[in-house]
Amino acid sequence: MKGGLALEMQRVANDIDALFDAYLAPVDDARARLIEAMRHAAIGGGKRLRPLLVCLVANLFGVARESALRAGLAIESIHVYSLIHDDLPAMDDDDMRRGRPTVHKAYDEATAILAGDAFQTLAFEVLADPATHSDPFVRVELVSELAKASGMAGMVGGQMMDIVAETTTFELATVTRLQQLKTGALIAFAIEAGAILGKVAPEGRMRLRNFAHDLGLAFQIADDLLDVEGDPALAGKALGKDAEAGKATFVSLLGVERARSQAQLLVEQAIGHLSNFGSEADLLRDIARYTVNRDR
Ligand code: IPE
Ligand code: IPE
Ligand code: MG
Ligand code: MG
Ligand code: MG
Repeated sequence: MKGGLALEMQRVANDIDALFDAYLAPVDDARARLIEAMRHAAIGGGKRLRPLLVCLVANLFGVARESALRAGLAIESIHVYSLIHDDLPAMDDDDMRRGRPTVHKAYDEATAILAGDAFQTLAFEVLADPATHSDPFVRVELVSELAKASGMAGMVGGQMMDIVAETTTFELATVTRLQQLKTGALIAFAIEAGAILGKVAPEGRMRLRNFAHDLGLAFQIADDLLDVEGDPALAGKALGKDAEAGKATFVSLLGVERARSQAQLLVEQAIGHLSNFGSEADLLRDIARYTVNRDR
């Protein structure tokens, strides 16, 4: 990874940790187990790719860093909730996440379900707070777009398709749609959120949307490739799960080589959509390349 990107990634990770730490202050009552489980899931782990994307796009439009970080925190909350539930025995049944035991392993299933629920509502609490942006129209747009990206027309819809993909033969077009919903929608919202915070008119967001579309797909192909050829110690989670479950993915349909070149192609295409920006978008270009070259 390039030095500038590594530094910015670390800075965002630290800031997101500090925000989670503030929101998830330990309590001294019967909710203590819930808050502990949430801290276990959210603090000190993950690449924080989505908050980083919000910050990098927000930077293009002169948005205050505090606003961008808070929107990033909201997306990361949805993401963490999705991971906690994704790992449950009823879904992927995983024991490790981000290099530590999954929430239902470290605590129990009921606590994991509740921790996910609480992260989902925390996301909207954070976005609706005037501290995120002084303009209520901006806040409502953020809330509305995150709701769409997370729900039945976004992440949750994609997770349903992903489960169906274990028992149904999907063609490439259907897998593409699955990936767009499951992973792409939230990544696309991260990019859109930077523009919403900057009050960029919807017409002005088209190129960024195209960037987000291609990047989201490339990201999930990279995740599927990691599942086949990654190192679990680096990834911090069990791998080989997709093939074991008989799941249709880009890799199962195209094979490793073609999936890899497809991911590279998508990233070059994504970067092409940034041609109207100058060097101020270089970190965004770097993160796009990192998305497919990552080992975790
Ligand atoms: C993993 O997401 C789950 C998918 C959406 C494929 P990330 O690869 O962003 O996971 P963390 O946040 O770095 O742990
Ligand atoms: C999970 O996809 C995507 C969401 C949680 C929305 P995966 O099941 O492929 O993610 P990993 O591989 O467990 O991180
Ligand atoms: Mg899954
Ligand atoms: Mg999983
Ligand atoms: Mg995966």
